[in-house]
Amino acid sequence: MRELLLIGIGTGNPEHVTLAGVRAMRTADLILIPRKGPDKADLADLRHQICASALEGAATRIVEFDLPVRDASGDYRTGVDAWHDAIAAAWGAAIEQHPEARTVALLIWGDPSLYDSSLRIAARIPELRVKVIPGITALQALTAAHAIAVNEIGAPFIVTTGRQLRGQGWPAGVDTVAVMLDGSCSFQALDPEGIDIWWGAYLGMAEEMLISGPLAERSAQILSERTEARANHGWIMDIYLLRRRR
Ligand SMILES: C[S@@+](CC[C@H](N)C(=O)[O-])C[C@H]1O[C@@H](n2cnc3c(N)ncnc32)[C@H](O)[C@@H]1O
Repeated sequence: MRELLLIGIGTGNPEHVTLAGVRAMRTADLILIPRKGPDKADLADLRHQICASALEGAATRIVEFDLPVRDASGDYRTGVDAWHDAIAAAWGAAIEQHPEARTVALLIWGDPSLYDSSLRIAARIPELRVKVIPGITALQALTAAHAIAVNEIGAPFIVTTGRQLRGQGWPAGVDTVAVMLDGSCSFQALDPEGIDIWWGAYLGMAEEMLISGPLAERSAQILSERTEARANHGWIMDIYLLRRRR
């Protein structure tokens, strides 16, 4: 049976890759790198950089494949399911072109367990035995960059998306909320009084940006600096932690 290694690579700093990740990359026969189009080229290029530093002297082959584009016209869940089917087919086609490769690896942004679909996509290819090598998540990169703990003593926290925060408001039962996948600064939908924010973009990369403080005072600054950075780089990835002051 062929093995599929899902290797967490962290959030942009090649030094986020663990020793176990490097070892897995070096034992793989083939590493598949998705091409998402010119606007996301940095992420494919970064995967190539990680390969260049991890694979010196190894026999691992690197092959790029085109990542299918999601059809966003209809129902969200139906579109995502169809997209995952298409990605599984693209993985399968790329793997079939290399029948000699018994161990195939994908370099997964952050960790495969957090807001990532690679495990769900891999489940569509039952003839592959899946192994996960954990990576540093964007949430860990954020809390480390700000030198904060994610939870208060003995208290729970929630990790959610911008879409959920916008639609549902502050989640019940927690004072700490981490927000990912937010293209619209959904913290604007909240009453900022009594809330602190720790925001980070391009975490782990040379362009890293960090802003923190009372939401009421930092909201406008984050909006304007985020807009400017996105225009300069052509893309942005950001994450933030919100905490209600007791
Ligand atoms: C599809 S999810 C992938 C998460 C990833 N699996 C992880 O473990 O962090 C992408 C989201 O992660 C966050 N993210 C990933 N990399 C980031 C980075 N370098 N800086 C800030 N946020 C990042 C952003 O919220 C982005 O919208």
